[in-house]
Amino acid sequence: MKDKYPFYLANEAIFKNQDLEVTNKYTGEVATRVAKANADDIDKAIAAAEKAQPAMTAMSPFERQAVLDHCVKRFKEREDELAKALCIEAGKPIKDAKGEVTRLIDTFRIASEESVRINGEVINLEISARAKGYQGMTKKVPIGPCSFISPFNFPLNLAAHKVAPAIAAGCTFVLKPASRTPIGALIIGEILAETDLPKGAFSILPCSRDGADLFTTDERLKLLSFTGSPDVGWDLKAKAGKKPVVLELGGNAACIVDEDADLDDALERLIVGAYYQSGQSCIGVQRILIHRSIYDDFKQRFVGKVKELKSGDPSDENTFIGPMISESEAKRLHGWIEEAKNQGATLLCGGERNGAMLEATVMENVPKDADVSAEEAFGPVAVLYPFDDFDAALEEINNSRYGLQAGIFTRDLYKANRAWDKLEVGGVVIGDVPSWRVDNMPYGGVKDSGLGREGIRYAIEDMTETRLLVIRTPQ
Ligand code: SIN
Repeated sequence: MKDKYPFYLANEAIFKNQDLEVTNKYTGEVATRVAKANADDIDKAIAAAEKAQPAMTAMSPFERQAVLDHCVKRFKEREDELAKALCIEAGKPIKDAKGEVTRLIDTFRIASEESVRINGEVINLEISARAKGYQGMTKKVPIGPCSFISPFNFPLNLAAHKVAPAIAAGCTFVLKPASRTPIGALIIGEILAETDLPKGAFSILPCSRDGADLFTTDERLKLLSFTGSPDVGWDLKAKAGKKPVVLELGGNAACIVDEDADLDDALERLIVGAYYQSGQSCIGVQRILIHRSIYDDFKQRFVGKVKELKSGDPSDENTFIGPMISESEAKRLHGWIEEAKNQGATLLCGGERNGAMLEATVMENVPKDADVSAEEAFGPVAVLYPFDDFDAALEEINNSRYGLQAGIFTRDLYKANRAWDKLEVGGVVIGDVPSWRVDNMPYGGVKDSGLGREGIRYAIEDMTETRLLVIRTPQ
């Protein structure tokens, strides 16, 4: 990691106000300093994005593709540096950090492919006598300058899910990365600055609250795409004015392990799904519903495996559990665990906190309305429930204000189909955990989990508008 980073305003690195300290989330030491944008910088960035939009719209698909291809090449060349930066700024175990860099490359590669296949359609308009001789055609045009706000838990790939489709679609953008983890997005900025994007096409602006409202309220911005916490997301939507809003928010993801599941496989996948990057994923497994006939066996083996997870320094290849993003977040979740215990829950393992490190925790007998079950834990905690009836278990998954993804371990095709029909979520994963995601699939939630879908092609839909052409041939 370098000792200082700029922000990017209208494609240019600006090194002023080195005010933002980014800490190593494991040691707590200051790892680097970052230039912090103020309200004036944000205003200038939005003006530049607006000015650059016609030039961005005029770029041919193959030219946008060349920009995305350049990024793919440079990310591959800087893979190690990117993974190390994630490990330091997010406390992400190095194995997970390397996995995120692989996904970053995938995300830009998919956007490169999609950039040259954004097509319209020919529509037969002759639906009644008065339309005889008319035909229609549509094309997709960029929606205009976009506003992006990305979260701390995937500093590279969740920024990429906004930036890469915007370039493919021909939209200029301003991006506010999470202040605690801005480095990933700033390295993307450094690489974008090497390309031929029109001047003003992008700005990447770590900032404090001062001026940050502009990302939401400014009318020059034509789309707001936010990934982060539900409370903040819905609040931003209320302030966003006329612009469409995409919200990728949180959840308390559930997974069913039915009586016919391959238990060895389910156990292995659930350990990853619940505890990778210390559970700090919107689709991290939180509630596990296990058929009563296998509950005790599952519980014993699951707890045994959780106890074996190595926690500690995220830069160590063998570390599975690193720190949470901050001590205050670890305290918050530790408080939820204690509260659930007071409400009658049983702690099966874990539950202790040391600074930002929270032990991998398993609980049972947790009241359904306890925060650790009903709210988004966003940390290394899983709660177990036995069930007797598959359909009642589906209802139990739906008994949540969230609905992002759900996982079902069953080999019964009919049950799988019922789950797909009945679950109120954005995605149902059969034979795996809800935490599974690959970057071209539609990803997003219902209920309090959000609005709209990401996954390049789906994000491009939001970032473009349909423009119709009608042609009349006099008869
Ligand atoms: C998220 O936390 O919303 C993203 C999860 C992922 O991309 O795997």
